[in-house]
Order: sequence, then C-alpha cells, then structure tokens
Amino acid sequence: MTTVVCPGSFDPITLGHLDVVRRAATMFDDVVVGVAKNPGKSGLLDLETRAGLVRAALESSGEPGLARVRVAVVPGLLVDFCREIGAVGVVKGLRGGGDFDAEQPMALMNRHLSGVETIFLPGDQRYAHVASSLVKDIVRHGGPVDDLVPAGVPEALRSALGQPAAGS
Ligand code: PNS
Repeated sequence: MTTVVCPGSFDPITLGHLDVVRRAATMFDDVVVGVAKNPGKSGLLDLETRAGLVRAALESSGEPGLARVRVAVVPGLLVDFCREIGAVGVVKGLRGGGDFDAEQPMALMNRHLSGVETIFLPGDQRYAHVASSLVKDIVRHGGPVDDLVPAGVPEALRSALGQPAAGS
C-alpha cells in the first residue's frame, strides 16, 4: 500500500484542490488530505472547519475514487505527519510557474528534513485562476463563488465572515 499526503491550507477547499486530489487518487492506493497551517497566510476558517469541508466535499462527490480518500489535520510539521502515517510522498498541484516557485523550497526542505519526496501535478486549466484567497475576497464583497468551490463552502465562509445566510 502506497500512502501519499495532499497537504494544503484548504482555507477553503476549492474545485481546483478537488481536481488534484482526484488525480492523486487515480495513482496511489491511499491518499490523505492533510489540512495544515501555512504561517505565511492568515487563516479565516479554523483547521477543523476546513477539514470538515474537505470531508463533506469528498463524500458528496459521489465518486468512488474520492470516497476512499482520508482527511486529517496536520498538527505540526508536515514531515512528522508523513512519518507518523507512513506516507512515502507528498502530492501538490500546480496551477502555473508561480505555484512552482512557492512550492519548490518547501519540497526541498521537506526532503532535507526527512527524505520525503514531493510529486507535482499540473492542475486542470479550468481551475488555473481559482485560489482560496480570491474566493474569500469575492465572498467578502458579496460576489458569487458557487461554481468555484464545493457545496457548503460559500455558507461556511459567509458564516465565518459574520455575513447573513444567502436568501435571508
Ligand atoms: O495550501 P498551501 O498554503 O500552499 O499549503 C502550504 C502547507 C500548509 C502545506 C505548508 O505551509 C506546510 O506544510 N505547513 C505545515 C508546517 C510545515 O511543515 N512547515 C514547513 C514546510 S517546509
């Protein structure tokens, strides 16, 4: 059994994230989505809420490949989490060169720390413009994000931002 981790902030999960997890699940027996803190980003949702939204997205997808993907909060270093669960690698999606520039130092550092390898997967071009930060900004200003994120995410963001529920 080959276990890999798809790590990320997932604040919140987007359809772009789901696309990469789906691709990882076609290649590896056991995929764990690791919801972690990125010290470079100020989070909106707490880690458990993010993980809950990822779980709901996987379950409601109705896709057998996604239904067997596990979700966990990464409490500390990603490499420690990988060691604890016996993961041989990390899978990260790339929307473009900017993502690679951000991801490469982390991939090299993770390998330096523990030998864990990172596999980069190009995401679907349909989601090349989709970023959690943009989704939050759009919701903050009352814009539509239903076609960018899994069901339930817009409501969770509005609630975290103290906005009234849609239609109320
Ligand atoms: O979605 P992101 O923000 O690009 O994901 C980055 C993340 C959360 C995977 C990274 O910040 C991380 O691995 N955080 C856990 C703590 C850690 O291991 N830090 C050292 C990274 S080299």
